[in-house]
Amino acid sequence: MSTSASSDTLQQGQPIDQNAATAPVSPSFSADVSPSPSADVSPSLTPEMCGSSVSTSPVTSFASEAMVFVNPDTSREPAVPLPPALSNIGTPFDASAGRPKDIGILAMEVYFPQSFVEQSDLEEFDNVSSGKYTIGLGQSRMAVVDDNEDINSICLTAVSRLMMRTRLPYSAIGRLEVGTETIIDKSKATKTVLMQLFANSGNTDVEGIDTTNACYGGTAALFNTVAWMEGSSWCGRYGIVVAADIAVYGTKAARPTGGCAAIAMLVGPNAPVYLEPGLRSSHFEHVYDFYKPDFSSEYPAVDGRLSATCFTRALDTCYRRLQERGAALRPNETPVDTGSLDYLVFHSPYLKLVRKSVSRLAYLDYVAAAAKSPELAATRFPQVSAELQQLVAESTPETNRDCAALEAGFRKVSSGLWSDKVSPATLIAKNVGNSYTASAYASLASVLASEPLDKLAGARLMVFSYGSGLASSMFCLRVRGPAIPVGLEDLAARLNARTAVSPQHFTDALSRREAAHGAASFSPVASHQDTIAPSTFFLSHINDRHHRAYAYKRADGTVVPSVASS
Ligand code: ACO
Repeated sequence: MSTSASSDTLQQGQPIDQNAATAPVSPSFSADVSPSPSADVSPSLTPEMCGSSVSTSPVTSFASEAMVFVNPDTSREPAVPLPPALSNIGTPFDASAGRPKDIGILAMEVYFPQSFVEQSDLEEFDNVSSGKYTIGLGQSRMAVVDDNEDINSICLTAVSRLMMRTRLPYSAIGRLEVGTETIIDKSKATKTVLMQLFANSGNTDVEGIDTTNACYGGTAALFNTVAWMEGSSWCGRYGIVVAADIAVYGTKAARPTGGCAAIAMLVGPNAPVYLEPGLRSSHFEHVYDFYKPDFSSEYPAVDGRLSATCFTRALDTCYRRLQERGAALRPNETPVDTGSLDYLVFHSPYLKLVRKSVSRLAYLDYVAAAAKSPELAATRFPQVSAELQQLVAESTPETNRDCAALEAGFRKVSSGLWSDKVSPATLIAKNVGNSYTASAYASLASVLASEPLDKLAGARLMVFSYGSGLASSMFCLRVRGPAIPVGLEDLAARLNARTAVSPQHFTDALSRREAAHGAASFSPVASHQDTIAPSTFFLSHINDRHHRAYAYKRADGTVVPSVASS
C-alpha cells in the first residue's frame, strides 16, 4: 500500500487509497512524520491530571496503533505572542485553589473553504434583478463546498489547526464538544471522529459530545463547557468548543443564503474574552421555520419569511430578559442597552436580517426611553421624526414585528449604531455566508480581528445566537485587556486568498454533494488540487460500510492519508 502520496499522484475522481478506510497506514509512512509540539506531552502536564492515564512520552512510532493518525505539520506558528493566559501553557491549573475566574475564549481557529462564488455573478446566473443578493440580502460572497469536504473534515481541520497554533499538547484538553446540524450519521458523533486527533497523546479522557438544534448547537456547547469548568467535576484542563456547519439549500430563493465554516474555540480561565457571569437570557419555543425531516437529503425545509419573524421575536424576548437580568444584577450600573454595549454580535443567516435586527433594537430602546420620559427619548434619539413617532404610537412591539415602514424608519435612526458597533462583526458573514452553528462565532471572530486592540480593551460585546425550531440565547462577553484570542491574526488575509469559482461550478458542486449524501463505496469527484487549501483535511473515500477516510494536505501541498479508522 502506498504510504504517502504527493499531490501529483492524485487524480481527479480517484481515491487516495481504496483501502484507507479499513487498513492501517504502515509504519514506514509514519516514519516521515516528526513528533510535533502538539503531539507530545509537556512534562508539567502530569498523568495524574483528572485521573487519566495520559502518556508522558512523545509518540515516535505508530506501528502498533489500531487506529492510525498522522500528525499535521507544525509549520504554522502564532504570528503574535501568546496572550498571558496561554504563555504558561503546559502548567495545569490548580483546581483546588478556588474556582476559576473569567472563563472564556483563549484561542479561535476559523476555517472556511478555499472556494467562493461572487453573489453578483450568482444574481446574473440566476436571472434575478441586479442587487437582489448583494443589497437585498446584504451578501458579497458565499463559500463553495464540494463533495470532498464533510462535517468531519472541516472539524478535523479546525481542531488540528487550533492545537498547532496554540502549541498545546492534546493531553491538556479535558472536554471537546461539537455543535452542528450537518448530520452525516444518526448515531456516531463528529466528536468521536475528532478523537483520532488525540490518539497519539493517549488522552481518551475527554468529556463532551455533539449537540444539535439548527444554528444553536455551538452556543449550547459553549455554555456546557463553561458550566463544566465552573463545576465540581472540572480538573484543571482546557475545553474545546467546535461550531461547524455546511449550509446548502435546495431552492433557488434560499441558495444565496448558504455558506460554510468551522470554528474551534479553546475555552479556559483568565481568558482575554470571557463570559460575563449572570448576563444571559434565553427564549425557546416550538415552530417549524427551518428543519431537516428528510434524511435522504442534505437540504432543509425552510420557510424564510417565518424564520425572519421568529428570529425577531426571539431577539425581542432575549433582549428584554437580558435587560431585566442586568437591572436585577447591577441596579446601580448603566442599563444594558445599545448605548452601553460596545459591540453587537449576531447569528447571521444573511446580513439584511442582521441589519433589520439592529433597527429593531434601536426601536426597542426608543420605546423604553419614551416610556420613561418624552424628553429622554428626544435627547437620546433626536433623529426620530414626528412621522416616525406617530408610527411608533400606532402599534406595540408585539404587533409590529413585520412593519416595513417602522423598520425603514429605525434603519436611518440606527445608521451610526450599525457602522460603529455591528459592521465590524460582519466580515466573515458577508464573505462566507451563513455557517449555521458557527455563524455567531464567525461574527465574534470578525469583530475581534477587525477592531483596534485599544478600542476592544474593556469592551462589552452582546452575542445573539438563534437556532430555528427554535432555540435562542443572548449573552455578554467582556474583553479583558489589550489582547484578543490567539488565531485571528491572519483572518482577513486568508479570506482574500480564496479562489473565485463560477455560479455553474457552484451549482455542479451542489449536484456532486447530492450524489455524495449517504453514499457508500464512494470517492469524491472534486480534486483537492482545486478545492483544498494547505493544512487542511479532506474526505478521500467512503467504503462499502460507510467508513470515512480522510487525507491531509500539508503546508507544502503534499497529501497524506491522515486518518484511517479500522
Ligand atoms: N435590489 C435591492 N434589493 C432587492 C432587490 C434588488 N434588485 N430585489 C429584491 N430586493 C430585496 C427585497 O425587497 C427584500 O427586502 P426586504 O427583506 O427588506 O423586504 C430582499 O431583497 C429579499 O427579497 P425577497 O424577494 O424577499 O427574496 P426571496 O423571497 O427570494 O428570499 C429569503 C429571501 C426569504 C431570505 C430566502 O433567501 C430564504 O428563505 N433564505 C433562507 C434563510 C433562512 O431562513 N435561514 C434560516 C434562518 S435560521 C438559520 O440560520 C438556520
